[in-house]
Amino acid sequence: MKHFLEISQISQGLARSLIDRALFFKRNRRYPVYKDNTLANLFYENSTRTRVSFEIAAHNLGINTINLDLNSSSEKKGEAVEDTIHTLTAMGINIFVVRHNRNGFSQAIAGSVDEGCHIINAGDGTHSHPSQALLDLMTIIEHKPNLQDLKIAIVGDILHSRVANSLQSIAALFGIKDLVLIAPEEWHPSSAQFGQVTTSLQEGLHNADVVVGLRVQQERLTANTQLNLVSYQQKFGLTAQTLAYAKPDVMIMHPGPINRGLEIDSDVADGSNSFILRQVENGVYMRMAIIELLITS
Ligand code: CP
Repeated sequence: MKHFLEISQISQGLARSLIDRALFFKRNRRYPVYKDNTLANLFYENSTRTRVSFEIAAHNLGINTINLDLNSSSEKKGEAVEDTIHTLTAMGINIFVVRHNRNGFSQAIAGSVDEGCHIINAGDGTHSHPSQALLDLMTIIEHKPNLQDLKIAIVGDILHSRVANSLQSIAALFGIKDLVLIAPEEWHPSSAQFGQVTTSLQEGLHNADVVVGLRVQQERLTANTQLNLVSYQQKFGLTAQTLAYAKPDVMIMHPGPINRGLEIDSDVADGSNSFILRQVENGVYMRMAIIELLITS
């Protein structure tokens, strides 16, 4: 595989082998070295988890990393992103991890890079966040491996969430028994890729094995779509009370960053059912598996 752009590119078998490889890295802590590669992080949108985990993943594989500061790069002088990538390629960089607020951005630039270069989509607009979906599934499989028996609920801004989109794709790929998308009407997709949409938190969480909370993306809320956040918290917040609808051993997940007291209460985010930091930990191993796949196939 040359580029890693979205979940729809990969088969269930390939996703499984990426998860197995990431679990192998996690358990063995002995890593191959791929010295003849250099990775550049090109993040046009803020990130903590994704950017740093790709940096650590590359380091673990013996790969040099450059974090391009896009605020002080020549793109500020009008250089096109394609020219930035060709310039960095001339210096020997062959792996580009790209996050951008425009849907399809990574897919578009993947068509114009040199032979031998790899583009990894680290999140494009509201469209796709494929490495997040893989690390999420890895985290679920570690604790509840019988995916076909699971009820998974995703709660929040389904309409604008690239995480929700990629999770729907991977849930469909693996034949998750029951995927429920819980959101206020304003945040319902016009048609779900996979799963049932509901406005009822009680119905959606009933007997859930896994609950994925989504961040309320306050920076995306315009005057037209402004929700009453107090009302949102009361109707859709993940609290000890609302999670009583789910199974007692429910896994609580969230891609982060979290808004404490809005989409999730601190006692839930920090509680014994929370796998939020496990997702972050698994992100390093999953991104190692993705980088290795691209440079070895
Ligand atoms: N989950 C995620 O993409 O987090 P960051 O924005 O911190 O990378």
